[in-house]
Amino acid sequence: MSKKPFYITTPIYYPSGNPHIGHCYTTVACDSIARFKRMQGYDVMFLTGTDEHGLKIEQKAVEKGVTPKEFVDVIVDRFKSLWKYMNVDYDRFIRTTDDYHVEAVQKIFKTLYDKGYIYKGEYSGKYCTPCESFWTDSQLDENGCCPECHRPVAMAKEEAYFFKMSPFAERIEKLLTETDFLRPKTRATELVNNFIKPGLEDLCVSRTTFKWGIPVTFDEGHVVYVWIDALSNYITAMGYMNGAYDDMNKFWPADVHMVAKDIMRFHAIIWPAILMALELPLPKHLAVHGWITFNGEKMSKSLGNVVDPFVLGERYGCDAIRYHILREMALGADSSFSNEILINRINSDLANGFGNLVSRTVAMADKYFGGILPSDRESAEIDEDFKAVVLNAFAETEKAMEETKIKQALEAIFKAVDRANKYIDETEPWKLGKDDSKKGRLASVLYNLLDAIRIISALLSPFMPSTMPKVWEQIGASDDDITYDKLSKFGVLPENVKVCKGEILFPRIDVEKEIEALNDIIKKNMETAQSNLSAEEKGEAKPDEDSGQEIELAPEICIDDFAKVEIRAAKVISAEKVKKSDKLLCLQLDDGMGGRQVVSGIAQYYAPEDLVGKTIQLIANLKPVKLRGVESFGMICAADTADGVKVIFLDDSIPAGAKIR
Ligand code: MSP
Repeated sequence: MSKKPFYITTPIYYPSGNPHIGHCYTTVACDSIARFKRMQGYDVMFLTGTDEHGLKIEQKAVEKGVTPKEFVDVIVDRFKSLWKYMNVDYDRFIRTTDDYHVEAVQKIFKTLYDKGYIYKGEYSGKYCTPCESFWTDSQLDENGCCPECHRPVAMAKEEAYFFKMSPFAERIEKLLTETDFLRPKTRATELVNNFIKPGLEDLCVSRTTFKWGIPVTFDEGHVVYVWIDALSNYITAMGYMNGAYDDMNKFWPADVHMVAKDIMRFHAIIWPAILMALELPLPKHLAVHGWITFNGEKMSKSLGNVVDPFVLGERYGCDAIRYHILREMALGADSSFSNEILINRINSDLANGFGNLVSRTVAMADKYFGGILPSDRESAEIDEDFKAVVLNAFAETEKAMEETKIKQALEAIFKAVDRANKYIDETEPWKLGKDDSKKGRLASVLYNLLDAIRIISALLSPFMPSTMPKVWEQIGASDDDITYDKLSKFGVLPENVKVCKGEILFPRIDVEKEIEALNDIIKKNMETAQSNLSAEEKGEAKPDEDSGQEIELAPEICIDDFAKVEIRAAKVISAEKVKKSDKLLCLQLDDGMGGRQVVSGIAQYYAPEDLVGKTIQLIANLKPVKLRGVESFGMICAADTADGVKVIFLDDSIPAGAKIR
């Protein structure tokens, strides 16, 4: 019987700068889904690639004194090596400079023109050069700048071709609101209200002001402008209007396009319109995720806050990084990246949770039975509950993956990991091992654990593909034991299964040392970005020339006045910069009363990571206020000094919530 096809795509990336952790999310997520589907027996096509044309690339190449193609070649190689490093197993890689794609885009453009969907006109509007985007007035940010990079926009006018959007409005609205195309569907409202209801604007699809693009065959001087070139990759890579491949019948329509929210509109509205105009079927699902943020902002090279995935991979292994980013990001929401979350996740879930489960189980099988389990067994009632939880994790994972909910899938699998560790605590194998009459029971407990690890590790293998083969070696599982159809049942490992002690899968990380090392790396990145900014942009304060001034005290108060102020010790759990503010940090505090959020004007003096874990003084009964739209429930105490503001840190032995008087 022939396998069912499954086609999944990432966006194609701009090779304008080195890839960063933010880029990794979609690709690693798609890779995990592709691997899961392969494990389920699908014939998978996983496509990724690079989007190589446009003004930005042309300008960067000029700066470097190379041709645009020479410029992108180097960065495309970096993307490819990152995917290799992250163990991303794509089936096809498309470059928009590939001949077959160029030829097909030219044909697509001509077809749309011949059908009357593309017409010639003149474009005039607000244009952001770095983002290569025209924006309407209502889309600009509150300062009248580009809503994406917040840089100034300029009026621009040029002859251009346009793609008619209005004929498709009704069908697109239905697609978004009446089908399960969009994931999460909750995002449909913003698309309908912001773009469809006000009337779909025709899309500018050609440019004359730069050369680095696919030439329009019937009008010299025009090159195809970004979205027709870029979006078409999903079909040209399958052979649409070209002879390089012949996979349209097999793989189109795509099962899943996965993208981040900034390019949702292009995939949810423009792409369906192009496909409707070409009379092609529409993709089945568009899965939209949030951004990996760092200090509250989208992680990106231009913000200078990028953590190099190669550096992180080097320190913890690519599987730990894959796990971390996949586990943190829920479909539709942003996920904030911090060193603390990364390291704590690795320690709690991978070192203490899964890694410890495997090493304890294998070590006990080795210690009590010389590595080979005996056939004599004695089962107990408690085994059934344990097995049920593991099998339920399988069912939940399968469902979550069907819905492209990777975070939920991992949560389901880790429920089984936690249950298995609890099973060890409940059955106390170390006690059974001391009593010869309980060897049958011990063998049964260890077999159940090994078989559960077989199921759990196979389920984890699409997400952490480098580590799981090492687990299978340790628990004595053959390739045949981990096929998908065998993950919904217990009793698959051979009766006399033989374990083999191996290396520690995820070594525990010394949190303090590691955070220090990572902070150093990030600070260096920030400094490099800062050194490119002017003194004014850096917000550098004039040195205080008045430090020797006389101190003037406020009017005297009595002890009752002071008693009105409730000062409490609190611990900083996390901190991040408040968006669009140079001065404010938003702190999450453990105040011993269930936690609270406080906004403090100390961003010029402290990086968020300088505060995390510290004990501070909190004015706990201050009336809440909103600062830059963010609610603040109290104030933290700090001293004004000649060197700027210094937070009053307390001895860490003082517990959160302790009253200060
Ligand atoms: N070339 C276009 C896509 C064309 S698809 C037909 C593009 N390229 S990009 O390189 O700028 O971004 C590619 C993808 O990476 C986008 O989905 C973008 O949102 C995503 N990310 C870039 N930075 C990101 C984070 N910090 N977090 C999560 N995803 C991020 O857009």
